[in-house]
Amino acid sequence: MKYALITGASKGIGRAMAEILASKKRNLLLVARSSDLLESIANTLKTQYQIEADWLSVDFTESGASYKIQQWCVDKNYSIDILINNAGYGLSGPFENYTAKEHTDMMQVNMNVLVELSSLFLPELKKAPKAHILNIASSAAYQAVPGLSVYAASKSFVLSFSRGLQYELRHTNLRVTTVCPGGTDTDFANRANLVEKARKAGEKLNMSADAVAKIAIDAMLAGKTEKITGLLNQIGAAFVWLLPKKIVEKTAAGIYSQD
Ligand SMILES: NC(=O)c1ccc[n+]([C@@H]2O[C@H](COP(=O)([O-])OP(=O)(O)OC[C@H]3O[C@@H](n4cnc5c(N)ncnc54)[C@H](OP(=O)(O)O)[C@@H]3O)[C@@H](O)[C@H]2O)c1
Repeated sequence: MKYALITGASKGIGRAMAEILASKKRNLLLVARSSDLLESIANTLKTQYQIEADWLSVDFTESGASYKIQQWCVDKNYSIDILINNAGYGLSGPFENYTAKEHTDMMQVNMNVLVELSSLFLPELKKAPKAHILNIASSAAYQAVPGLSVYAASKSFVLSFSRGLQYELRHTNLRVTTVCPGGTDTDFANRANLVEKARKAGEKLNMSADAVAKIAIDAMLAGKTEKITGLLNQIGAAFVWLLPKKIVEKTAAGIYSQD
């Protein structure tokens, strides 16, 4: 029996992707920190969709988090054919407002655990007749974002790593898909402590977590390499490519910086 392992499945886009996969009768392994939320989601989806679902509470900033997840799968005899690296968060405001540890903890969640899990589960995924890795980056992957500098850089890393890995694996049964959401209505803005200007822009432009999750799962199952969610975000990425970097960065700073 195969499972889809989803990180950051307790809330937002991860939770919505779990529900879509459950509706497609995929068995689920749900990972994040919030044990109460994970337990309730797993139980609800099991009953509602007649699937198998289990959960594990892990803080990705703790050392050995990825190995703990792998060992849990070994101990419980769980085998996966879908790995969704979705857990992530931002820290907004001036770089110097945060400690070095706060920056590297975020990088650990957004990048290191994503690479570790991809590496640890790769041999098993390659054994399945058809398998997928879905990595959630961001529209921030396409440019520097003053006021979200480390976050944006971490998402550029996710996009670049994932595209490279997809190319390496192009002749195998394993597809690597990167999805780049723009603003989405989740807990992201609160956790990142986004400034009022950015929240106001989000109220008008954000997509729902359900809509983003559907685009992400469809892209993954279709074996796409890269997908930006929503037409506005696609147009935004095209402008970033066309315009001088200084203008792009000034515009982003106007939305995400405090000044
Ligand atoms: N919302 C947006 O506007 C937006 C835009 C572009 C990209 N994204 C990306 O989409 C992904 C999902 O975010 P979201 O918008 O759905 O935000 P969210 O509602 O805040 O969900 C984030 C998920 O990551 C998990 N997580 C955070 N820190 C963790 C840690 N230390 N250890 C383990 N799990 C952790 C959270 O679970 P716990 O809190 O239970 O640990 C939660 O399940 C992220 O990679 C984010 O960067 C979001």
